Amino acid sequence: MEIIETRRAGLSGDLASGVQELLREAFPDSSSVQSDYYAFTGAPAIIIMLREGRDVVGHLAAYRREVEIGCEPLEIGMVGGVAIAPNHRGRGHSRALVQRAHAYLKKRSIAFSILFAHEPRVYASSGYKLMRNETHFLDSDRDWKTFIYRGSMYAELSQRPWPNQIVNLRGPIV
Ligand SMILES: CC(C)(COP(=O)(O)OP(=O)(O)OC[C@H]1O[C@@H](n2cnc3c(N)ncnc32)[C@H](O)[C@@H]1OP(=O)(O)O)[C@@H](O)C(=O)NCCC(=O)NCCS
Repeated sequence: MEIIETRRAGLSGDLASGVQELLREAFPDSSSVQSDYYAFTGAPAIIIMLREGRDVVGHLAAYRREVEIGCEPLEIGMVGGVAIAPNHRGRGHSRALVQRAHAYLKKRSIAFSILFAHEPRVYASSGYKLMRNETHFLDSDRDWKTFIYRGSMYAELSQRPWPNQIVNLRGPIV
């Protein structure tokens, strides 16, 4: 099993088609993922993949986002597109990808990572807690919304505690 880190520009050929295939299988109900995941979310700061032979069996995208928490402008990390191929699940692979993403963000002195979980329990052992603050964000229907997003989670990557104030994600779409 090989871990590959790349950017959008480095994703081509077999690797690119392998990622899209994995994401389509993992998120069958998401119309955006079914077309082109990255066209929808914008370019991640880093894409972390697991490959076995020629098969892409794991994927995570980490984003750097300029947001406001309360009145403070802040750069935070955002993790998305976490997917592991069905026959490789339950072996700690998604946890390992999240750890790699955290290493990338910590190296850049980014104090927080957030994500929007389908199943929050998956991320608890990686340090994520459910947000109790509201999020102001651009939804996939291109409407700005403000509410406590179900499954929204944060992880503290440094000594700094999560501010627990309204987060203005400013866009693009999440
Ligand atoms: C969710 C998913 C990424 C988990 O990948 P995985 O490699 O099997 O997860 P891991 O083996 O690294 O497990 C990490 C933790 O999540 C838990 N977990 C894994 N799958 C879970 C599930 N479906 N429900 C609840 N907890 C789960 C594990 O027990 C483990 O807990 P621990 O660290 O406290 O021991 C994978 O099932 C998947 O790709 N699902 C389809 C796409 C998806 O839902 N992605 C997540 C979007 S938020």
